[in-house]
Amino acid sequence: MISKITNIPIHVSIIMDGNGRWARKKGYERLLGHNAGVESVKAAVKYAREKGIRYLSLFAFSEENWGRPDEEVSGLMALMAKGIATERESLVRNNIRLRVIGNRDQIPKGLRGVVEEIEAATLSNSSLDLIVMFSYSGRWDILQAARKYGEICAKATREGLSLPDLDQNSFTELLSTVGIPDPDLIIRTSGEQRISNYMLWQAAYTEFYFTDVLWPDFRKTDFDLALESFNNRQRRFGKLK
Ligand code: IPE
Ligand code: IPE
Ligand code: MG
Repeated sequence: MISKITNIPIHVSIIMDGNGRWARKKGYERLLGHNAGVESVKAAVKYAREKGIRYLSLFAFSEENWGRPDEEVSGLMALMAKGIATERESLVRNNIRLRVIGNRDQIPKGLRGVVEEIEAATLSNSSLDLIVMFSYSGRWDILQAARKYGEICAKATREGLSLPDLDQNSFTELLSTVGIPDPDLIIRTSGEQRISNYMLWQAAYTEFYFTDVLWPDFRKTDFDLALESFNNRQRRFGKLK
């Protein structure tokens, strides 16, 4: 089935949802669901690289997720720290660049330090960009870009310069995802069919794929179904084909 796939997306993004329900179904604590989800992350990264996907972004923690109970939030922070520290060596060996995108001010200092060290160590890696969207929300991203533009204008005014043009291209440069092409395909697991404040600007022409599979169960056959679906889409970008 997979051999039919000719059009591999450049950027695949995944809203990794359903860890809590996976745990509940098995009678486990929610955190065990998040823990199991880490295995799915590893499998997805490996498979994306095998398929020649150039950018894989993963929605790991939203700005709104800070509103969950303290125990769950601290558990997720610990899991993220442990997960990326454990994977450091594998990222380096497999030529994968790690980037963490989101509101870093909110991320605990220790975790931020670990992230920054690995980002620097993998900066020039080029087989796959693994982008972890953490403490991220689409509205936050648009707002921080608008604030940056405000600062640029204030500086220009102080210096007696004219204000820089603002168009879709220059605004895109101010987003936290600067340098990363818009996602071609967004996969959301767990049966929810919503965007949950994710990549609101970047997803303007993204193809969506929804599956009932819960994130801890997501493996390469599920990934293949998403790629196969993408392969059969006709993208028109508002034009006629
Ligand atoms: C996704 O799983 C992971 C995060 C949002 C951090 P959930 O924790 O949202 O799992 P459900 O939706 O409760 O099943
Ligand atoms: C979206 O899942 C965020 C992540 C997967 C990190 P949520 O579980 O937070 O989204 P809602 O609340 O169901 O919309
Ligand atoms: Mg959820």
